[in-house]
Amino acid sequence: MKLLVTGGAGFIGSNFVYYMLDKYPNYEIFCLDKLTYAGNMETLAEAMKKANFHFIKGDIKDDKLINDLFEKNKFDKVVNFAAETHVDRSVETPDEFFLTNALGVTVLLNACRKYKVERFHQVSTDEVYGDLPLNAKDLLFTEETPIHASSPYSASKASGDLMTLSYFRTFGLPVTISRCSNNYGPYQFPEKLIPLMITRAMANKSMPVYGSGTNVRDWLHVHDHCTAIDLIIHHGKIGNVYNIGGHNERTNLEVIKVILETLKKPESLIEHVTDRPGHDLRYAIDPTKIVNELGWKPIYNFESGLKQTIEWNIENVSWLQHILEGNYKDYYDRMYNNR
Ligand code: NAD
Ligand code: DAU
Repeated sequence: MKLLVTGGAGFIGSNFVYYMLDKYPNYEIFCLDKLTYAGNMETLAEAMKKANFHFIKGDIKDDKLINDLFEKNKFDKVVNFAAETHVDRSVETPDEFFLTNALGVTVLLNACRKYKVERFHQVSTDEVYGDLPLNAKDLLFTEETPIHASSPYSASKASGDLMTLSYFRTFGLPVTISRCSNNYGPYQFPEKLIPLMITRAMANKSMPVYGSGTNVRDWLHVHDHCTAIDLIIHHGKIGNVYNIGGHNERTNLEVIKVILETLKKPESLIEHVTDRPGHDLRYAIDPTKIVNELGWKPIYNFESGLKQTIEWNIENVSWLQHILEGNYKDYYDRMYNNR
């Protein structure tokens, strides 16, 4: 099996690379990544030591590079994690998001079609469904929920999904799509809520809560996302979308307070700042389809998963430090120093 993982130097892609290398030692795993600010070769250091792992630096939008790569390697399956992923950045540079998350996906789809790849899997997000009200707990996103994206990020991901489904209907390309809720775990870039708050609490810095902090996210440990994608690419039905989530809804303030408590830091670090424009209120996934059809079951509960993630960040402080001392610094200052 020759498996191409795009975006494998980022948070979820790298966790998936390690999961697959461990579970399928006979697979030949290729990772293509542009190494944007979010891609980190330090994360892939252990994978790089394996003879069946190959890294290629490149952009999924680069038609020639993609064609040459597919021509040379004849991949069996492709899993696309490569994306611009941070909602706040999409408010600043929407075009970049559209180019990677919609056009880049189309370049991959064309290559999969040309080289008759047996499966293209698009890693998507629950954000394509828009948001749910805070006061209707029984409302969840199902695969039938209409696409109703709010941010340039989610609109660009929705565009990638629609292109993917169109290649199934029009060209018969064997595709699947997964839409997962918010992930947390090792190697997450410290611009996203959980690693950002852990990093700031560890440094006794204020914790910037957007608006009231009552927005709700449905958290899933990255390991459980990886097991779900593994099941889908091996047993999922062609042309189908699968939602992934573990029923772990928490308000942002609830998450932050657990982090403070675990790190024994005072709640006085919490600082309410200007809200995110268009801020989605609540995400909540109904995972019935993947549970019933593919037998998927998450193994982490949120409390133990968050504790493990906090410990990971403490033990890997040099990984964090290298990011905080690099290019990320400018963005970090711009986002948080004058908020
Ligand atoms: P990330 O930002 O940590 O990593 C993205 C990776 O993609 C980076 O390594 C980056 O260098 C690479 N990349 C970006 N543009 C590229 C391009 N044009 N060509 C090649 N590589 C490129 O993201 P993540 O959080 O690991 O998310 C991975 C995927 O999962 C994304 O598609 C995202 O939409 C989806 N997703 C994320 C979450 C979450 O909570 N983080 C939840 C559901 C779905
Ligand atoms: O739902 C899946 C999505 O989850 C993925 O598709 C995205 O790639 C991923 O970034 C994530 O999007 P969110 O916008 O939900 O994640 P983020 O970590 O940016 O924010 C989570 C919540 O925390 C959100 O309500 C905004 C809030 N927040 C975030 C930051 C960075 C704050 O209050 N303060 C902050 O500084």
